[in-house]
Amino acid sequence: MTIKYTGKIKPADTCFVFFQKTGETYSLSSKNTELNQLFQHLVKTEDQLDGFRFYPDGKGRLAERVVFLELKPVKGNWAEAFRRAGNSVAKNSRNLSQQSACADFSGLAIPETPTDPVWFSAFTEGFLLGSYEYKTYKNDDSKRKKLKDLSLINEDCSGKTVNQLISSALEVCESQIFARELVNAPGNELTPAELASRARKSAEKHGYSCTILNKKKIKELKMGGLLAVNKGSVNEPVFLVLEHKPKGTKGKPVVLVGKGITFDTGGISLKPAAGMGDMKGDMGGAAAVIGTLEAAARLNLPVHVVGLVPSTDNMPSGSAQCPGDIITTMAGITVEVDNTDAEGRLILCDALEYAKKFKPAVIIDLATLTGACVVALGDKAAGLMTNHDGLSAELISSGSATFERVWPLPLFDDYAGQIKSDVAEVKNVGGRNAGAITAGKFLQKFVSDNQPWAHIDIAGPAFLDSPDGYKAKGGTGFGVRLLTDFLINRSK
Ligand code: BES
Ligand code: ZN
Ligand code: ZN
Repeated sequence: MTIKYTGKIKPADTCFVFFQKTGETYSLSSKNTELNQLFQHLVKTEDQLDGFRFYPDGKGRLAERVVFLELKPVKGNWAEAFRRAGNSVAKNSRNLSQQSACADFSGLAIPETPTDPVWFSAFTEGFLLGSYEYKTYKNDDSKRKKLKDLSLINEDCSGKTVNQLISSALEVCESQIFARELVNAPGNELTPAELASRARKSAEKHGYSCTILNKKKIKELKMGGLLAVNKGSVNEPVFLVLEHKPKGTKGKPVVLVGKGITFDTGGISLKPAAGMGDMKGDMGGAAAVIGTLEAAARLNLPVHVVGLVPSTDNMPSGSAQCPGDIITTMAGITVEVDNTDAEGRLILCDALEYAKKFKPAVIIDLATLTGACVVALGDKAAGLMTNHDGLSAELISSGSATFERVWPLPLFDDYAGQIKSDVAEVKNVGGRNAGAITAGKFLQKFVSDNQPWAHIDIAGPAFLDSPDGYKAKGGTGFGVRLLTDFLINRSK
C-alpha cells in the first residue's frame, strides 16, 4: 500500500471528491473542469448530497467512478474532520474493492489555513486507522481486493514537505495498530511472557531498549503488589523496562507506566460472566506505552522516554490472593486487599515506586483501571487525574489535537478518607462513590507531592463494543497518538 501526495489528479479506479455543505449551499471549485461539471450536474439533479454517491464516468476519463463525500468540521476541529474523511475513503474503497484511488481536496474553504499541511497527517491517520481490522484468526476475506495506491490531491497546496508528513503519520499509525493488535490478542495467546516477547521484537526492530525483569527479579525488588496479583496464576509475571534515549538528550526522562493485566477475571472477587471476555483488553495501558515507545523510536524523537509495564493475569485459584489479605508493596506501604478485582492499582503502585529510580521529569500512567470511569465518561474520553496543572494543560491540549481526549477529575484530599484501612496503611477499594477518583487517590500515595504525575484512566476509550468511525470494535490503541503528540511537544 502506498499513500502519497501527487498534487494533481491522476487516473485511478475511483476519485473521491470532498465538498462542504454550508447551510443550503454546496461548495466545490475544483480547478479540474471535468470534475466541476460533474459536481454542478449532481447539485442540479439531486436534492440531497448525503454522505456517499458514486457517479460512473465515461471511458478514458480520470476515474472509473467519482464519489462525493461531505467534509464536516467536528466542532471546529478540522483535523478530526480530515481523519473522518480518511476513514470514509478507507471504508468506501473497501466496499467498492478498489485497487487505486485518489482523494481530491482542491477548492475547499477551510477557515484557518486552507493550505495547512495538518490535514495531510490527519487524513492519513483516518485512512490507515480506518483500514485496520483484527483478523489474525479470520481467513475468509483473503480474496477481497485491497487498495494498493492512494494519491492525495490539493491543487491549492504546495507539496514540498507533504510526503514527509504522510510518512510520519504512517509511523505513528503503525505503532497504534501494533498497540491495537496487542489489545485484541486473546488472553490465551497474549500471556505476560508473550507481551514481553512482542515488546522485545518491536524494540529490536525500531531501535529502543527493552529489559524484561522475570519473577525472580520481581521478588528481589519486593514488588509485593505485582506478586500478590500473580499468586493465582500459572503464568509468571513480567516487568518491562523500555527506554528510548537518543544521543545528546540530557536531563530527566518522561516516564510512562502502563497497566498490563493480560486477562482480568477479577480473581477470587470473580467478575460476572457477561462481558468478561472484554477483559483481554485489560492491558490497554501497557499497549499504549509500548506503542508510544515504538512511535518515539520510529520518529527518532529527541526526547528521553522510559516505559514501565508490570504484567500478569488476574486469576482465581487455590493459590490466589484473598479479600482481607494484607500485602507489602515495593514502596514498603502496606495494603489491605478488600477486593481482588481492584488489581490494577496493586501492580501500578510497584511500577510508580520503580519509576523513582529514573528521577523523572514527569510520570504518566495509563490504565484500564475502573468501571466507574466508564460510567462517568463513556468511551469518548479518558479520565485525567493529576497533581500538576501544567502537565494537565499539556495533556488536554494533546488530547484535543489527536482527538484522544482526556477530561479532568479532581484528586481532592477528602476522597482519601474512602480508602483508609483499619488494618493497613491503605485499602485497595473505596466504595461505589467516586470509584475512578479513589483509584487515583490510591496511586497518588505512591508518588511524591513534588513529582509531576498524571494518571489517565482509559477503561472507556481503550476498548469499544461497537465500531466508531476510524476505530474498529475492540482495541483502539488509545493513548499512542495522545502520548506521541505530548512527546513531540516536549521535544520542541
Ligand atoms: N479492569 C477493571 C476495570 C475495567 C472495567 C476496565 C470495565 C474496562 C472496562 C478493573 O480491574 C476492575 O475490575 N475494577 C473494579 C474496581 C472495583 C472492584 C473497586 C471495577 O471497576 O469494578
Ligand atoms: Zn479488576
Ligand atoms: Zn483490571
